Amino acid sequence: MADFVGAIDQGTTSTRFMIFDHGGNEVGRHQLEHEQILPQAGWVEHNPIEIWERTVAVARTAMGKLNLSATDLAALGITNQRETTVVWNRRTGRPYYNAIVWQDTRTDRIASALDRDGRGDVIRQKAGLPPATYFSGGKIQWILENVDGVREAAEAGEAIFGNTDSWLLWNLTGGVDGGVHVTDVTNASRTMLMNLETLQWDDELLSFFGIPRAMLPEIRPSSEPAGYGVCRVSGPLGGEVPITGDLGDQQAATVGQVCFNVGEAKNTYGTGNFMLLNTGHELVRSSNGLLTTVCYQLGESAPVYALEGSIAVTGSAVQWLRDQLRIIGNAAESESLAAQVEDNGGVYFVPAFSGLFAPYWRSDARGAIVGLSRYNTNAHIARATLESICYQTRDVTEAMREDSGVTLDVLKVDGGVTANNLCMQLQADVLGVPVSRPVVAETTALGAAYAAGLAVGFWKDTQELRANWNESQRWQPTWDAERREQGYGRWKKAVERTLGWVD
Ligand code: G3P
Repeated sequence: MADFVGAIDQGTTSTRFMIFDHGGNEVGRHQLEHEQILPQAGWVEHNPIEIWERTVAVARTAMGKLNLSATDLAALGITNQRETTVVWNRRTGRPYYNAIVWQDTRTDRIASALDRDGRGDVIRQKAGLPPATYFSGGKIQWILENVDGVREAAEAGEAIFGNTDSWLLWNLTGGVDGGVHVTDVTNASRTMLMNLETLQWDDELLSFFGIPRAMLPEIRPSSEPAGYGVCRVSGPLGGEVPITGDLGDQQAATVGQVCFNVGEAKNTYGTGNFMLLNTGHELVRSSNGLLTTVCYQLGESAPVYALEGSIAVTGSAVQWLRDQLRIIGNAAESESLAAQVEDNGGVYFVPAFSGLFAPYWRSDARGAIVGLSRYNTNAHIARATLESICYQTRDVTEAMREDSGVTLDVLKVDGGVTANNLCMQLQADVLGVPVSRPVVAETTALGAAYAAGLAVGFWKDTQELRANWNESQRWQPTWDAERREQGYGRWKKAVERTLGWVD
């Protein structure tokens, strides 16, 4: 059998191709960024063609660097930025519009209308999601209503929808020459269109958005022994490789962190933060602002669900310090600048740039820096930014405890911001529990590789994957309870100030 498994990780800012061995170790990778298209305030788009071209380039380069060919890969997995919406023509292969990204808030009217006449509660009940601009349903509706010719083409089955997993799968398996149009249960669970119990598109939910069923992909398990399709010989791997893993990036990270038991959770620090708690086969409905989502489905086995706390702005708040305020030259400097001061000097920063996601779900919130006095410097702002990442995480863990009764005794972390030692120390301090990072920090791509490899027998079972997980670093809490609770109280007060800012 081939020695490796490949994974495509199509993220919000970049696309990477990674190669893993049987021990779950990274063997090779290549990564390329793509353009963030910002046509107006609140709008965020990507060019799907650019994403496909970048995918081809990273796969070829990563394989080329190691002199590998398609026969060296037992299987290929795909993981992706979730919710981001592409609608394209299956005859020409051309997108009708740019991909509308998960962060885009142009559908705020569509989302708020859903809560005025009871449809919102049906979505909460059937799809496990609060009506919000975040999810794909409203984005598809926007394209159907605003781009000429799409509705007729969609009704005729010619204009088809996918998140970026489906877009890449379709292209990898042949595109206009017979590409498969599929997605997995985890991606489908982010659309507001899938019924969490049946794991199928739901006609009532489709009717809320006026979406023709013919434009939707077939929903399949996240790890698929039958395969979704095969990479074409003419494709980026230069040979046929079965594609057998597909799952949204946060769910993939949960698999990469081997959170296979009920009560196990991970927190990924990327553009935003996403904490997922495995709730097993039980569908736990949140009363505290969390999402109910599919965690994964391995083959024909029963799906595993999760509670998710999604936070829109964490790593991107650090980017804001760099690109807009220009008080740091690169992300790493946020740590050295914040370390110049002992504490936040009374400053709290709530980065509600796109409103607030979990657990508040308030699109009328906007960012605020509060508690300023003449004494404060850039260093306090940097420290308050790192603390905002940690306090938002605390908000989510509180909601998880209330919804599930689970109190974490350790928080498993991954993602770019975990390279920031001070931020991880603050995270342990703010939560009062240890924070633990694994050796392989690329848990998202690893999770996609695991899903693909399990399907073809490259890995026997989840027990075998568990043995691959090793800790690289652990941060212990140092604050006493009084400091911790006082800080959190101030944070909650700061959040109050941001709510209702937009009329
Ligand atoms: O739900 C959005 C999430 O999937 C985006 O993840 O890592 O691309 O920022 P990331």
